[in-house]
Amino acid sequence: MDYHVKDIKLAPQGELNIAWAKSQMGALVKVQERFFKEKPLKGIVIGMALHVTKETAVLVETLQAGGAEVAITGCNPLSTQDDVAAALAKNGVKVYGWKGENTEEYYANLEAIVGHLRKGLAGGKRIATIDDGCDLVTLIHQKHADLIPQLVVGTEETTTGVIRLRAMEKDGALKCTVIAVNDNQTKHLFDNYYGTGQSTIDGILRATSILLAGKRVVVAGYGHCGRGVAKCARGMGALVTVTEVDEVKALQARMDGFESMPMKECAPIGDVFVTVTGDKHVITTEIMKLMKNGAIMCNSGHFDIEIDTAGLYKMAKKRVKVRPFMEQFELDNGKKIALLAEGRLVNLAAAEGHPSEVMSLSFCGQALAVEYGVKHKGNLPAAVISLPTDVDHDIAALQMTAMGLTKDNLTSDQIAYLSSWQEGT
Ligand code: ADE
Repeated sequence: MDYHVKDIKLAPQGELNIAWAKSQMGALVKVQERFFKEKPLKGIVIGMALHVTKETAVLVETLQAGGAEVAITGCNPLSTQDDVAAALAKNGVKVYGWKGENTEEYYANLEAIVGHLRKGLAGGKRIATIDDGCDLVTLIHQKHADLIPQLVVGTEETTTGVIRLRAMEKDGALKCTVIAVNDNQTKHLFDNYYGTGQSTIDGILRATSILLAGKRVVVAGYGHCGRGVAKCARGMGALVTVTEVDEVKALQARMDGFESMPMKECAPIGDVFVTVTGDKHVITTEIMKLMKNGAIMCNSGHFDIEIDTAGLYKMAKKRVKVRPFMEQFELDNGKKIALLAEGRLVNLAAAEGHPSEVMSLSFCGQALAVEYGVKHKGNLPAAVISLPTDVDHDIAALQMTAMGLTKDNLTSDQIAYLSSWQEGT
């Protein structure tokens, strides 16, 4: 069978959700319409490891409109939307994934995607990858290196994946071209900021049903994602405290009007802790022991390493699943603290990920990155590269049109002024 999903009977609901998402993704629909006419991806098999959501389904449709064959699996064991996976499977997409995969199943599904890439090559097609977190490209480098010379291009969606790829490049281990879609301004200034901000709060509320107003929310990390979470939490009436290791960002948080202090100092006073750093063990068991009774912890960074969950499971004397994405742990000191979504991405596990409007921008970047890689095949380095800035501006322009927005344009006099140096005081 060319798919493995939870329940194919969920397809009708998935189709409704995909159509709803598509109605909010005007820019991506424009790319889809052009792809349908021009078929820039004809003859390409694309292996994807991306959250299987209603928005991702619209990206899959776009790539297919461009002439590509697509095989997809998720990039996180808890993020697949089973109705969407069923709808994709029903419509002939090779999809492998379900919500609640264990690690073994997760890697078996990634291997299934590699299998489709191999089949494509055997059939005379060319291959490309789309990753979110770099697990597919890593697997290919570690276990299927013979595929690398055939790989036209890889693309990477997220900050964590790009950091991983740059480490591979520094090590001399990266042997193919990967386009860092996260480098697009139309990606990180929107998806990471507005998307992570809103969807993280959405995940916390769906998981816990608490009131945020008046709570102290501790945000670990003040990159684009952390900034988005802090802003949205404040918008809900929370008192926000930021923890940072970078002095510039710590200062920026303070001047944005947030408290800024080390994790150890906010541990005893925080009500809700959100990690968005991309680094491991930001909340250790030592920090957990300092937390007050009733504290809630969650993560919105890509991997489940930011909160020391293994340490928590070992240390807790009692563990109770209170709600679908909330577990409570009783510690030796008598306090009860909660962990959401097993420390995995709370916004995708307990909610539905970023809203469609921002994913439209991110996924225009994905579709145009694959097109760019195919067009420039053979002329790109084995390195992590970014798309040219005019692509970014084209994406923003498409989204502005979709939203009915217009902007000013420079006069010829202004253009001349900006490229001159003679005029001063
Ligand atoms: N990453 C965050 N939100 C997402 C979504 N809705 N779809 C795909 N990837 C995502």
